[in-house]
Amino acid sequence: TTPPTSKALSGALRKKLQGYVGFANLPNQVHRKSVKKGFNFTIMVVGESGLGKSTLVNTLFNAPLYPPKEHVGLSQESPKTVGIQVLNTDIEENGVRLKLNVVDTPGFGDFINNEDSWKPILETIESRFDAYLEQENRVNRSKITDTRVNACLYFIAPTGHSLKALDIEFMKRLHNKVNLIPVIAKSDTMTNEEVAAFKERILMDIDHHKIKIYHAQHYDCDDQETINETKEVMSKVPFAVVGSDKAVETSDGRVVRGRSYPWGTIEVDNEDHCDFVKLRQMLIRTHMEELREFTNDIHYENYRTEKLVALGYQQDQTVFREVDPLAKLAEERALHEAKLVKMEQDMKNVFQQKVQEKEAKLTQSEAELYAKHKEMKDALEKQRLDLEDKKRRIEQGRPITPEKKKKGFGFANK
Ligand code: GTP
Repeated sequence: TTPPTSKALSGALRKKLQGYVGFANLPNQVHRKSVKKGFNFTIMVVGESGLGKSTLVNTLFNAPLYPPKEHVGLSQESPKTVGIQVLNTDIEENGVRLKLNVVDTPGFGDFINNEDSWKPILETIESRFDAYLEQENRVNRSKITDTRVNACLYFIAPTGHSLKALDIEFMKRLHNKVNLIPVIAKSDTMTNEEVAAFKERILMDIDHHKIKIYHAQHYDCDDQETINETKEVMSKVPFAVVGSDKAVETSDGRVVRGRSYPWGTIEVDNEDHCDFVKLRQMLIRTHMEELREFTNDIHYENYRTEKLVALGYQQDQTVFREVDPLAKLAEERALHEAKLVKMEQDMKNVFQQKVQEKEAKLTQSEAELYAKHKEMKDALEKQRLDLEDKKRRIEQGRPITPEKKKKGFGFANK
């Protein structure tokens, strides 16, 4: 019999309880803890000066969060100074605390040279990632303050044309670092038809330049109503917004947040007038947690990986093998052993050759000696024979022949 797979096992193990145990209360426990701890949310507003960024933030949170600020105008000389302002506020609704941080980037686009105006904005996002990374690496990680930017509202001027080169540059620089949410600023200055056509062109530009904007997700566990709502919210991107923190009176006597014109009133909270309600719904009511999640799981994780890789940390297996000290040692030892074997063989060969040479030399000198010895022996033998012949003649009284005199028997002549 084959063992059951883990999936089958977990399915088989999922038993129906016979009565109330209590862990169904877990979401409530999480809720209580979260309420106690409060939530952190950091929103960044990016766009040209005077597009209504601070007004919209006030309108979103229905509070005068923004103190009246000085507008950075063309009088400011340095084209590189893009002053980043940070606004930290604690707001509370029905006992739930929200620590809201607004990062404002006033003034970009005001200068003659706007080439690098995205830099300080990107640096702000990255420095917040760095601060988080640094806290994560501490010994004590119990008190981490999260100031990472969770969403970036990118304000597009209501020109009715298409995205400006500067907008494209900005979005491309930011899209991998933050959840980018494009909004059409001051949409009350355009007609409904103009807004629709402008949205289409912006989306085409975004698609063409492969700019990644934030897409609110829906999940399998969501009910049909939530799924439809999320789809509807996404159908409004880029959100055409109108901001106003002032109450105005409509022609039918209602007091609303809006903007009054000679021809009537634009109501901020009226979905027929603008997309403000849908933007707020996504940003605050339905997808704030997802924006925080995406920040952590996608943007921060990518940044962290890039940073650690740049610092020399590697996760790739092949690289690991290269730097594995044990493998390297074994490789070095094998090389060394091969070298020793070769050296030994070379030495043997040389020795063999030397022995052979010596042997050949010895054989040769032996042969030479032998030849010399034989020659001397032959000469002596011949001398002995001559002497014996001479002795015999003397004994017989015969004279030595002149031929023999010539050969050196001189004593016969004396
Ligand atoms: P900087 O801080 O200088 O970058 O400006 P900002 O983008 O924060 O703009 P701010 O909110 O200060 O608004 C600038 C002007 O635009 C103010 O006079 C607002 O009343 C006006 N304004 C803001 N929102 C809207 C809007 O939706 N429609 C219209 N028509 N005017 C708006």
